[in-house]
Amino acid sequence: MPTLNSNSNSNPNSLWWRDGVIYQIYPRSLADSNGDGVGDLPGLIGKLDYLASLGVDALWLSPINKSPMRDFGYDVSDYEDIAPVFGSRADFDTLIAEAHRRGLKIVMDLVLNHTSDEHSWFRESRSSHSNPKADWYIWRDPAPGGNAPKPPNNWASVFGGSAWEWDETRGQFYHHMFLKEQPDLNWRNAEARAALMNTAKFWLERGVDGFRLDVVNAYFKDALFRDNPASFSLDPRAALPWFRQRHLHDYDQPDLHSVYRELRQLLDARPERGLIGEIFMTEDPRVFARYLGDDQLHLVYDPAFAAQPWLPRSFQRIVAEREAALGADAWPCYCLSNHDWPRHVTRHGGGPFAAARSKVAAAMLLTLRGTPLLYMGEEIAMPSPNLARHELIDPPSKRFWPFYNRDCARTPMQWDESLNAGFTTGKPWLPVGASHKKINVAAQTDDPNSVLNFYRALIQLRKASPALRRGSYRPLIERPVAAMTYLRETDSQTMLVALNFFGHDVTVPMPPGQWACRLSTHAAEHAPGETLTLAPFEASIFERR
Ligand code: GLC
Repeated sequence: MPTLNSNSNSNPNSLWWRDGVIYQIYPRSLADSNGDGVGDLPGLIGKLDYLASLGVDALWLSPINKSPMRDFGYDVSDYEDIAPVFGSRADFDTLIAEAHRRGLKIVMDLVLNHTSDEHSWFRESRSSHSNPKADWYIWRDPAPGGNAPKPPNNWASVFGGSAWEWDETRGQFYHHMFLKEQPDLNWRNAEARAALMNTAKFWLERGVDGFRLDVVNAYFKDALFRDNPASFSLDPRAALPWFRQRHLHDYDQPDLHSVYRELRQLLDARPERGLIGEIFMTEDPRVFARYLGDDQLHLVYDPAFAAQPWLPRSFQRIVAEREAALGADAWPCYCLSNHDWPRHVTRHGGGPFAAARSKVAAAMLLTLRGTPLLYMGEEIAMPSPNLARHELIDPPSKRFWPFYNRDCARTPMQWDESLNAGFTTGKPWLPVGASHKKINVAAQTDDPNSVLNFYRALIQLRKASPALRRGSYRPLIERPVAAMTYLRETDSQTMLVALNFFGHDVTVPMPPGQWACRLSTHAAEHAPGETLTLAPFEASIFERR
């Protein structure tokens, strides 16, 4: 059996990041314990029993480090401290202990591409040309010519405009791939690099089980600072300079591998630690393959599903590309939603069939070959509310309204039907979705047909089935139109997954054999013969007898 990134310090038969299910928490929005309207660590600790009851194996927490919250935590001002709005380091220690007591791993989001402009490192760096941290960020002289200072090259910021910000004190530009309040670190500076490695070490020593590394393929920029070539695109996003360039020089640079190896060595010195890298703005899985392997990242966080329309052929194509590109020692990782996109329940059409559709989506995510990453709230088919423009607070959501909205993925978790959905006793930092009256955890807990209980059953089935966890994947319909069917097989077990994406019956061919239904959205007893007729939005999982 391929090692699939196990190491001598781990149990190769069961690794949480490969065999388990990872659940993403956006800590601001899970549960508020002190009535300030913002979720916090004590609130999260209070929900650990619920989270454990889902059957998930690991919790990834979006950033909780100290931050002025311009990018809601993705702008860190102290890597070794916790933002007071979330709690203290003692709360974090309690979280680790309480999570571990329930068999849950904790994955921290580490944002090492950039800091906040309020980080003491940046304050020092920008104070002069000669301070000890002068070279810890990416500083460049202006390009020659012009009256006003001209940016050193054409690199753009993902969040709009140039990636270069003029700084009067230094009389130079600094680079920021995201907001101007998020200056990019200079990974080519040995001291900065060592300090960043130390932050990983610091949290490993406090007991975290792994990291989700934010924009991990952007750490290095071209050493010669060459312009990116222009590209032509009909994509409406090409209104932004970022989408009018081929990004040859500002990310995906070869120097990355040495950093991944160094981080991996830090993790491998301890048992069962995992590295999940967010590969940013790259959808080509052949690029992922370069970053995965026994001495690099364990998983590449792959948001491709989040960009797919609700068509079986779109998802099947994404899976086929990953299956072809990722070799034996690489492992796919899929998600349907996260904090950067409107939730999939809404993206896939919402409306009266939202719950039915979300069960089909869940059955797919939790039975594919690869690690499933769930986003808090998807287990109750929580939709993204329609926020008015004046309700938006995230800078890119405000800037790109109505084309791009992240706030609608970040509204508070819907626990019950009460005012503020049981999230806070105060004023929630983002509006609570009106759907909470009907769509909430309390309402779904005792309903055997709820989306919540379907997620639980799927996770249990996956846990109990070697074929669903580790088996090969074989699609059964070459060009699926309405339904997707596939096999997951090991030497000892064959499972068949049948998913009807639409609101009409679909008949699909069945491979030979006797099939027993192990889980279905539809109660009817199936006895498939040469064909199987799926009811509208049916998801059924069979095992060959
Ligand atoms: C990642 C995060 C996103 C953040 C950005 C900058 O893409 O998912 O929320 O704004 O990095 O850190």
